[in-house]
Amino acid sequence: MFVDRVLSGMRPTGALHLGHYHGVLQNWVKLQHEFECFFFVADWHALTTHYDEPQIIEQNTWDMVIDWLAAGVDPSQTTLFIQSRVPQHAELHLLLSMITPLGWLERVPTYKDQQEKLTDKDLSTYGFLGYPLLQSADILIYRANRVPVGDDQVPHVEFTREIARRFNHVYGREPGFEAKAEAAVKKLGAKRAKLYRELRTKFLEQGDAAALEAARALLEKAQNLALGDRERLFGYLEGGGKMILTEPQALLTAASKMPGLDGQKMSKSYNNTISLRDAPDSIARKIRTMPTDPARVKRADPGTPEKCPVWQLHLVYADDQRKQWVQKGCRSAGIGCLECKQPVIDAVLAELKPMQERARRYVDDPTLVKSIIADGCEKAQKLAEETMRDVREVMGINYS
Ligand code: TRP
Ligand code: SF4
Repeated sequence: MFVDRVLSGMRPTGALHLGHYHGVLQNWVKLQHEFECFFFVADWHALTTHYDEPQIIEQNTWDMVIDWLAAGVDPSQTTLFIQSRVPQHAELHLLLSMITPLGWLERVPTYKDQQEKLTDKDLSTYGFLGYPLLQSADILIYRANRVPVGDDQVPHVEFTREIARRFNHVYGREPGFEAKAEAAVKKLGAKRAKLYRELRTKFLEQGDAAALEAARALLEKAQNLALGDRERLFGYLEGGGKMILTEPQALLTAASKMPGLDGQKMSKSYNNTISLRDAPDSIARKIRTMPTDPARVKRADPGTPEKCPVWQLHLVYADDQRKQWVQKGCRSAGIGCLECKQPVIDAVLAELKPMQERARRYVDDPTLVKSIIADGCEKAQKLAEETMRDVREVMGINYS
């Protein structure tokens, strides 16, 4: 069966906050019910920009994994692992670097953007230039076809598609490919061979995507094919050679609408976050001290919710009735700001309660987290090694 495989990574930035939950994590939790999912800690990626802060990586990694688990990422359905524990990523990165034109890397928009933005960092390194290629290796090594990312990362997935295409183009050809593919078609049996040819022509001549899908399904069902023939037939469908690496598709994650405590986007660098594992009394304090509409100096002064960051939070959490209560109470000075904030406090605490309960188990028992990661790394290594065998073979370094 053709299972969609989802893969995504996160750099270990430490404790995650509500912005991460409403943006990325809720999406991961949903995806794990629909697809085979792989989520990993991109610790090597963290080193490309933070190589001078090695002491924070390990703690950040474990904290982040605990937050994933707390948010509901289920290790019995999903594979969780750490990038650097699957060294095959580095090997693939190296091998892909042989066919990667420098210009392609220099043209990735994040390269110049980040260099301009992070002026306090030295980003004129080989490692930082290679950031997107390392990401390509992360994705291609699992033959993942769907990659959930925010819009800033879409160019990296596009870049990965180009790398996969180039790799298949350079190494997917073997001497006498056409003849071998034709011989493999015959092995399908007369009826299936005829159907395969018809579907292939439809796709190649008319770009009929449904025909391509149908032909792939046909190959999936053909049990009696040798692995090499099967790959040839998959490749032959699209005209060229063998498909060794799979071109992934970006699954765009909608940007989080979670505002921070000051009304700007919630982000660690703005110091306006509520972390998933903040203590309830500290969360209550943070919300109680949030700025409100400056027009409400005294309790009797009316205000305008649209000028108040607390209203942004009501938009995330409140039902219609509650929103009307805020609108009316604020504009007429019928309610005070502390009164207005209480339902927000209650909603945030209610949302975080089950997460904090789940987290406690893992905080109390770090060996549990480590064994989840050990299992995930083992599973990831197996799959990564399968791809690497094919890659080494076509690149001439198999040494059987
Ligand atoms: N670059 C991604 C980010 O900053 C993290 C990442 C690394 C990633 N490797 C990946 C995301 C592979 C998706 C797939 O968010
Ligand atoms: Fe903001 Fe609510 Fe106070 Fe109005 S009443 S200013 S919406 S906190």
